[in-house]
Amino acid sequence: MKIMTLFGTRPEAIKMAPLVKAIERASDLQSIVCVTAQHREMLDQVLELFEIKPDYDLNIMKSGQSLSEITSRVLLGVEEVLKKERPDIVLVHGDTSTTLSGALAAFYAQIPVGHVEAGLRSFNIYSPYPEEMNRLLTTRIASIHFAATEGNVDNLIKEGINPQVVYKTGNTVIDALMEVIDENYIFQNEYLNNIDFENHKIIALTAHRRENLGMPMENIFSAIRALIEAHEDLELVFPMHLNPAVRQVARKHLDQHNRIHLIEPLSYEDFANLEARAYLIMTDSGGIQEEAPALGKPVVVLRTETERPEAVDAGTVVVAGIEREDIYRETEKLIVNSAHYKRMSEAMNPYGDGHACQRIIDALRNWKN
Ligand code: UD1
Ligand code: UDP
Repeated sequence: MKIMTLFGTRPEAIKMAPLVKAIERASDLQSIVCVTAQHREMLDQVLELFEIKPDYDLNIMKSGQSLSEITSRVLLGVEEVLKKERPDIVLVHGDTSTTLSGALAAFYAQIPVGHVEAGLRSFNIYSPYPEEMNRLLTTRIASIHFAATEGNVDNLIKEGINPQVVYKTGNTVIDALMEVIDENYIFQNEYLNNIDFENHKIIALTAHRRENLGMPMENIFSAIRALIEAHEDLELVFPMHLNPAVRQVARKHLDQHNRIHLIEPLSYEDFANLEARAYLIMTDSGGIQEEAPALGKPVVVLRTETERPEAVDAGTVVVAGIEREDIYRETEKLIVNSAHYKRMSEAMNPYGDGHACQRIIDALRNWKN
């Protein structure tokens, strides 16, 4: 079976990397890797770490790209690759513009699509935007669905997907995480080796969502600045996303403070081990909500809703919203109330056992026969 994996952004790459490696190891499978490079530098960091050499690199990223630009460039680029390769199946991941557009290109070429990380739903098409719609549309296109959790399976069945083509596999992010977490890890980024994880409470922050650009992001950063100023034992590490719109607001609120570290995006190894050593995590990211429960780290989610209710049920994640006061209050509770902190830092892992890739490969073999 000739399998083409298709991805383009950092989180897709992190979650597809262990799958690409597993396909490459399987003697009965042929692996073709096509990257859109919807992200350039942040994708390359992951390709380098996992030693993946793409067969095709569409190199589509432009600074400040619009959704229509990404979608059309991916559609045209993937069409050419599919004409040449004619794989038996195209595997896409999650909910980015690369995901939807890649799936659509495969459908136009009448090539079946497998959807990895299928069935996540926030039930609000504008949050996360455009990801919720990308998920819904990719589900309609896909012929086989790899869902991480029981809840994700249920969402698909409720939408009328045939249960026989839905497989519960766990999330491949746990496979990736297990490869990089190390108790004795020494950071590649020297800056992190000089941070006092013992005596200071380190907050790791990420923020980038399109629907948070504007007032929500102003609220988020201003709440965090106020928290750092109010608590002398707090220190913030923020590897800033490369989106210029994010970096501009971040600098406006968070520059010029000796306990705030605005740094460049970290390698996945560095970031995962930073999560493992941090006191708590503040984020609007999706993947981090899956990693943190496995590491027993409380997460303050900087969004109005989450498509990952399992992490909330597990008790590690609190959805704080996008209002300044709410973010301040929910985070401060974790700083001053040790019983609350302890409750939220019980390690739980609702997202899998690190064998999701093997289950996906088994399902593909089963589906083909
Ligand atoms: C994209 C995905 C989002 C995912 C996120 C992960 C869509 C619509 N959005 O959002 O679902 O959660 O990636 O980070 O698919 N940039 C660089 N270098 C990079 C990466 C980004 O310079 O390596 C800059 C570019 O100016 C680019 C901008 O960031 O135009 C935004 O990138 P884009 O992929 O359009 O959106 P994200 O917000 O990253
Ligand atoms: N991450 C990383 N380096 C960083 C920040 C995050 O490798 O500096 C990883 C993080 O561990 C997680 C993924 O990137 O696996 C999340 O990606 P992102 O926030 O870009 O996207 P989302 O998860 O929101 O789609």
